[in-house]
Parts: sequence; structure tokens; C-alpha cells
Amino acid sequence: MSRIIMGIESSCDETGVGLVRLHDDGTVDLLADEVASSVDQHARFGGVVPEVASRAHLEAMVPTANRAFEKADLKLSDVDAIAVTAGPGLAGALLVGVSAAKAYAAALGVPLYGVNHLAGHIAVDTLQHGPLPKPCLALLVSGGHTQLLRVDDIATTITELGSTVDDAAGEAYDKVARVLGLPYPGGPPIDKAAKQGDPRAIAFPRGMTGPRDAKFDFSFSGLKTAVARWVEGAERRGEDIPVNDVAASFQEAVADVLTAKAVRAAKESGIGTLVISGGVAANSRLSELARERCEAAGIELRVPRPRLCTDNGAMIAALGAHVVAAGVRESTLDISANPALPV
Ligand code: KG4
Ligand code: ZN
Repeated sequence: MSRIIMGIESSCDETGVGLVRLHDDGTVDLLADEVASSVDQHARFGGVVPEVASRAHLEAMVPTANRAFEKADLKLSDVDAIAVTAGPGLAGALLVGVSAAKAYAAALGVPLYGVNHLAGHIAVDTLQHGPLPKPCLALLVSGGHTQLLRVDDIATTITELGSTVDDAAGEAYDKVARVLGLPYPGGPPIDKAAKQGDPRAIAFPRGMTGPRDAKFDFSFSGLKTAVARWVEGAERRGEDIPVNDVAASFQEAVADVLTAKAVRAAKESGIGTLVISGGVAANSRLSELARERCEAAGIELRVPRPRLCTDNGAMIAALGAHVVAAGVRESTLDISANPALPV
């Protein structure tokens, strides 16, 4: 007998509701994935404004859920369990999702599971590529996080091998975009501009790659500053900014560092599969370079399609399904959001 799992996501600026079917053999099918984004409301501030995000979640939560049920042709009463992002993320934003999930769970009398947003970014890959090999490695690159993780069991056992010591990769994209006069969020316009530019035009620094640096940690703040200095220098000299070349050179530095460390971690740990997920995994050069380097090293690479890489409810429903299948104990109705929840 299959089960229907509802997933609710509200950690940042996307209100997401996903519905999946968990089969008895542990496989999971995607039934609906509805997202309402408040990204346009934050664009003029150049970053997410927490209060604006919380209000937008409040307005969008129930309509987004209703749309998901319509798309899947299901009723609320078909739901067997509810998973919700308990953290990490913005406190006020998380609270909207957690409160909604509690209300649905209490009204329907079904179990509630508070789950980790970062694990959700990895779990979503199972909707496209099937069960994850145990163990596998995950490179999680988003606007808020940059982490290299060892995943022994997506439902229960994830270990951090390294993380950023300053900015997240997506944050660096957003800040560099601002320096170049490109819109927020910066990832997509930089990706597009870089396609017309020369990635070898400017030798930007590769942070944390020195012999004394922690093996699997990352740093992007030096790179961000180097780009800003370079652009300031050109402006001072009255030169036109070669936006495409700067974008391509910056993007090459990010992709180089991320893929080099991930492949090194796979080789050193003898783990044969790498999953890259999170908003920055939608980057065309990152997946291209990862593919090249993984192929050369004999590592299987899994990158979910871009729509699944950015924040959504399906990733939380998928993780919920794995948590249910693993027999993890359900959360109580007094769970709260934890903005700093570790993996
Ligand atoms: O995972 P996500 O949707 O939200 C967080 O949990 O942070 O990631 C958003 C980040 C933003 O910083 C955005 O600029 C970046 O992902 N992003 C990209 C691309 N698409 C989105 N970065 C590089 N290339 C892209 N194509
Ligand atoms: Zn995310």
C-alpha cells in the first residue's frame, strides 16, 4: 500500500508545497511541486528581506497547498504524513511553514516530521535519479549554504566534511552581480553573461586551495572582493567594464574550486557517487566542469534538473518519504523552527 507524503518549505523566499507517493519498495514518485516565490519583492533590496518573506509566506501558503492538491488530483484527506522544513533558514519564514504543517497534521490526524532543509536539497535527487547509493557525497551549493557532505543514509546519517568559512557560493554570485550592475538573484544573469565571455580573461583567486588550508572548506569572500577591486580599478581608469569576461572569469573560479574539492573528497574517501544540488547547481559551467572531472575520475555525477535544485516543496516531501520509510520517530506537535539547525 503506497503512502502520500506532503512536504512544506518556507525557509527563505519560496513558499513550496510538494506531494509525493512513497511505494512499499521505498521508491518515491513526484505528484505535485507548487512554488510561490517572493523573489521579485526582494529584488530592489539586492537580497531577501526577512519580514517581507514572512508576510509573503503567510499569503501564499494555503493557496500554494491547494494548487498542489489540484495538480495531483488528490484531497487533503489522502495525505498519510506531513514533512516540513524545521531549519535552517529565516526564523519568521520557517515559522509560517511549521505552523501550517502543525495545523494540517492536527486537523488530519497524521504524523508530522520536522526535517532539515539541507538534507532536502539532496533527497530531491531521488525523485529524478532513483535511490541514492550508500554512501554518496553531496555538494550543496545555495544562496545560504556551501557544504560538502558525506551521506550514509539520507534519512538519518549525514556528516559534514567541509563548508564555507565566509560567504556561500550563491551569495558570492549575488554580490558580484550587484558589482556588475546585473539583477538579483545574480546566478542566472552571471551564468548567461559568462557564456559570451572568456573564462581565462582575468585570473581571479581560488580561495582555500593552499597547502595549509582545510581540505574541504571553501571561501568566497576573497574572490568577491577581488572582483569588486578589479571592477573599481577599471572604472577609476575610465575603462568600460567587460561584464561578460568578468562574469566568465568569476564563474570559472567558483566552478574550479567547488569541483576540485568535491572530486578530491570522493577520491580520498573512495565514494563513487557525487550529488550536486542547491540553487547554484543550476549553473551551467559548474555542472559542465563537474561532469568532465567526475568522468575523468570515474565518479558517477548526479545533478537534479534546475527546477528541483532551487528551493521547493517536493524536496521536503521527498525527504519526508525517506524519513517515513526509514521508520524515524515522528515529531511532536510542539516542534519549533530552528534557524540554525545543523545537518
Ligand atoms: O537553493 P536556493 O534556491 O535558495 C537557498 O536555499 O539559498 O539558491 C539560491 C541561490 C541564489 O544565490 C542564486 O543566485 C543561485 O542560487 N543561482 C545560481 C543559478 N541559479 C540560481 N547560481 C549560479 N548559476 C545559476 N544558474
Ligand atoms: Zn535551499
